[in-house]
Amino acid sequence: MPLRQLLVLPGDGIGPDVTAQALRTLDWLNAHMDLSISYDIADLGGAALDAHGVPVTDDTMDRARRAHAVLVGAVGGPAYDAVPFDLRPEQGLLRLRAEFDLYANVRPAICFDALVDQSTLKPEIVRGLDIVIVRELTSGLYYGEPRGIFESETGRKVGLNTQRYTSEEIERVARFAFELARNRRGRVCSMEKANVMEAGALWRAEVEALHRKEFADIELTHMYADNGAMQLVRDPKQFDVIVTDNMFGDILSDEAAMLTGSLGMLPSASIGKRDANGKWFGLFEPVHGSAPDIAGQGMANPIACILSLAMALRYAFREDRAAETVERAVQTALARGHRTRDLMRDGTARAATTIEITDAILKALEEEFQAA
Ligand code: IPM
Ligand code: MN
Repeated sequence: MPLRQLLVLPGDGIGPDVTAQALRTLDWLNAHMDLSISYDIADLGGAALDAHGVPVTDDTMDRARRAHAVLVGAVGGPAYDAVPFDLRPEQGLLRLRAEFDLYANVRPAICFDALVDQSTLKPEIVRGLDIVIVRELTSGLYYGEPRGIFESETGRKVGLNTQRYTSEEIERVARFAFELARNRRGRVCSMEKANVMEAGALWRAEVEALHRKEFADIELTHMYADNGAMQLVRDPKQFDVIVTDNMFGDILSDEAAMLTGSLGMLPSASIGKRDANGKWFGLFEPVHGSAPDIAGQGMANPIACILSLAMALRYAFREDRAAETVERAVQTALARGHRTRDLMRDGTARAATTIEITDAILKALEEEFQAA
């Protein structure tokens, strides 16, 4: 099997804590399932800023270009609050997303049975939850020009960002969502603010036009994003695939993460175009942030990062069996009661450390493997 390359960018805060555990998982898979995925580690975000003066170096960009997939930990933190905007840690991640044109960000929110009681919502609301948010990732408010902090005629400051979407940008992410829904329960809900924003009105019109043309077999509904936020906590199981813009997708996916019990559970995949062989290049990262308050203390939940590795195995390396094995091992470890601190309701029991919960996942992997 040809050697395949994963570039790992641990980044800041708990990023290094959780990517280290994803790599332990990959080591295990390489040794036992013959995956031949090699990896290489580089700086991103604040770590790159400290070491090289920029949030991502050109060299790292080149290494990413040569890799088959990139696994990111997390970026940012209060230490960089005073850094000028174009050098902020987040810009490293935004450059990766933009330069590789990773326009579709897939954020599955699945409530594992073992965590039903962990959610802040009632068990019957979240039991069996399995939804996906498809967030547009390379346009909209995050990238729209003009942007900046300017001085007005009266000498006051003006902060400006632009919500901008072309019909092509809307159509390609909508197509991605419809295709995903075809392999699931066949339903897409598109969220925008077509009632107040022109970009939202165009979004709705383009999604509708594509649906009519190519996806009449899919059930399409539309919601204003504010209503969507409310519906996500009222009755999240009404959804299958949600497709939405960059900013709404950022907000709604944090909300969806909490339905699953903890922000520490949600993986994500950012995917661009397929190459001639149908292969996707992707960037895989937990939805959670850098959580600087608990960084380096051994208490971060590595599951979102381990599940992001599973998504890389599935989407970038086409190793479905390995991906499923990892996902099942995570469920087994949770079912056996292993919990990091974020997954515990009361403070009486002792929480598992980042390493201990990974040990439990590796043990479950080992057992799966023996049994197969
Ligand atoms: C996310 C994060 C990023 C975003 C930050 C770190 C730039 O919050 O991936 O959801 O806003 O997209
Ligand atoms: Mn976010």
